[in-house]
Amino acid sequence: MAMRIVERAADLHALLRESGYAGRRIGFVPTMGNLHDGHYSLIAVAREHADLVVASVFVNPTQFGPHEDFARYPRTPESDIAGLDACACDVVFLPTVQDMYPSGVQDAVRVVVPTFGDILEGAIRPGHFDGVAGVVTRLFNVVRPDVAVFGQKDYQQLLVIQHLTHDLGFPIEIVGAPIVRETNGLAMSSRNQYLSAQQREQAAVIQHVLQGICKQVCTGNHAFSSIETRAQAQLEQAGLIPDYAVVRRADDLRKPVEGDNARLIGLIAARLGSTRLIDNLMLEAGNEQGPG
Ligand code: PAJ
Repeated sequence: MAMRIVERAADLHALLRESGYAGRRIGFVPTMGNLHDGHYSLIAVAREHADLVVASVFVNPTQFGPHEDFARYPRTPESDIAGLDACACDVVFLPTVQDMYPSGVQDAVRVVVPTFGDILEGAIRPGHFDGVAGVVTRLFNVVRPDVAVFGQKDYQQLLVIQHLTHDLGFPIEIVGAPIVRETNGLAMSSRNQYLSAQQREQAAVIQHVLQGICKQVCTGNHAFSSIETRAQAQLEQAGLIPDYAVVRRADDLRKPVEGDNARLIGLIAARLGSTRLIDNLMLEAGNEQGPG
């Protein structure tokens, strides 16, 4: 069946009730477009869990702060549609702001995510996760998927979505998919477009620092605050401005305590010129060796 492109929520509802679509297990991949191999890998993961794959492309205004890059965020709908078609996505949903926020952005009902939404990314980007939670709630309501796939690249976002789904009782399975990287280890991101060729090389330090953290933690060094201080210094030496470089418990993003045998994760957010980059690494043996 040829890929279908739908722009109105009402049309998506109607399509998913047509013969050939109704009754199939729906896998959903929400995106903000400017798609790359990281996004396309989510389509493949959705395919493994479902027999009809719906992707959305919507640059959501409510998750950008007033001084962030909403206006300049790259919008490439034609190549996104071609890429989704090439990886056998079944339906692309490209809603307008008006369709997603029928009462207007200002009067939109909000979904507030306490605790998980207020730390790390949420502390630096106040209201960001409320915007994400709001749009994902709206998208879930339109698409009504059985399973939705999110990248571990945005690890905190994945936890926020899991919390939201559980707390609001959406009957949706949330699947986390592995991070796809450039050959130098830089996590793929639509924002990498803002980087010059030299900055792309410079940005590979983020992954190297995460591997260094992994090596230390996995060989039994649990002096977390000195590991974090050193990681920040390494990022600064490479010309980046770190927002955070931390070791946290993977399940709840709390600070680990000495002797904690919880699963740990290293998380970094850093600015390079005017571009903000995030990445993370599960601190498990085997992950201290990266690509390249
Ligand atoms: P966006 O940044 O477009 O990302 C869409 C999905 O792709 C997210 O689940 C993200 O984690 C995943 N992704 C991005 N880069 C990846 C990579 N290198 N490897 C694996 N997965 C990757 O995240 C958003 O959009 C928005 O916040 C959204 C959830 C769509 C709500 O507006």
